[in-house]
Amino acid sequence: MMPAAEMQALLGERAAMTENFLAGCLDDFLAPPRLKQAMRYSLEAGGKRLRPVLCLTCASLCGERAETALPFACAIEMIHTYSLIHDDLPDMDNDDLRRGKPSNHKAFDEATAILAGDALLTDAFVVMCRTDVQSERLLGAVATIASAAGSAGMAGGQQWDMIYTGKPVVSLEEVQQMHAMKTGALIRASCVCGAMLAGAGDVTLDAISAFASALGIAFQITDDILDVTADTAKLGKQVGSDVEKGKNTYPLLLGLEKSRELAREQMDASKTALRDFRGKDAEFLSALTFHIIHRTA
Ligand code: IPE
Ligand code: IPE
Ligand code: MG
Ligand code: MG
Ligand code: MG
Repeated sequence: MMPAAEMQALLGERAAMTENFLAGCLDDFLAPPRLKQAMRYSLEAGGKRLRPVLCLTCASLCGERAETALPFACAIEMIHTYSLIHDDLPDMDNDDLRRGKPSNHKAFDEATAILAGDALLTDAFVVMCRTDVQSERLLGAVATIASAAGSAGMAGGQQWDMIYTGKPVVSLEEVQQMHAMKTGALIRASCVCGAMLAGAGDVTLDAISAFASALGIAFQITDDILDVTADTAKLGKQVGSDVEKGKNTYPLLLGLEKSRELAREQMDASKTALRDFRGKDAEFLSALTFHIIHRTA
């Protein structure tokens, strides 16, 4: 496996590419200053930049320059950031801390937070369309990311999350399906879109999809575990929030040890899906998956 230091260096490099692009990507939108300020507030608040890094890496894995996929990768981060702003709203998870700062609706107000989310989601499609690849490749990727964010993906999963909140009897299958939709869909699409932009064929896309689906589940199980075990200051969001809100999570249903075991199983499945890939990007994805499951923040 790629040594941790090498993985961290490449992660840092691709996260920095993302940060640089994000810093300028809203410049030419003629938005009301307050709206733009609210959008920038959340977009530039840090975050692991995992989804864009996955997109850039999968593009590179499939033979495209990572830089080519950069507008698309950053548009995915805009969609992700919108989802976090809305996820924190009082009528959803009602969380006051995000990425180590007051949540968007706390720093601004609820109406502005709703609009900042709407605008980030919509402007993401403008930014995405600036990706300089053949139009059929771009169109396929745009459709893929749109359905991953929509009613059969993230938004649908968030609806299941709200339906299950406070409900005493929810099955493991239901929680897994909710995780696959609210978190897995965007992570899967981040990887698949990177590969699509590079012109990957169906066999490659299927393998990348299997890798990323398992990674997405492992990622959300780990997020649920960290809500119990992490440190608020380090995590940058309020620990214990899920229990307080009556969320149906893996640790609640199965306990911490079993949840960790299932995250490891998904990690193994994701690595198996990569078995036919060779080279630095494949090794990086494997090492990154290990890092994601073992992270403390
Ligand atoms: C948090 O995502 C929301 C989930 C889908 C679990 P991340 O843990 O990737 O959040 P940031 O982008 O690093 O802040
Ligand atoms: C949110 O899941 C998934 C999204 C689509 C935003 P969580 O509600 O567990 O995310 P955090 O813990 O608030 O980041
Ligand atoms: Mg939530
Ligand atoms: Mg939340
Ligand atoms: Mg969470």
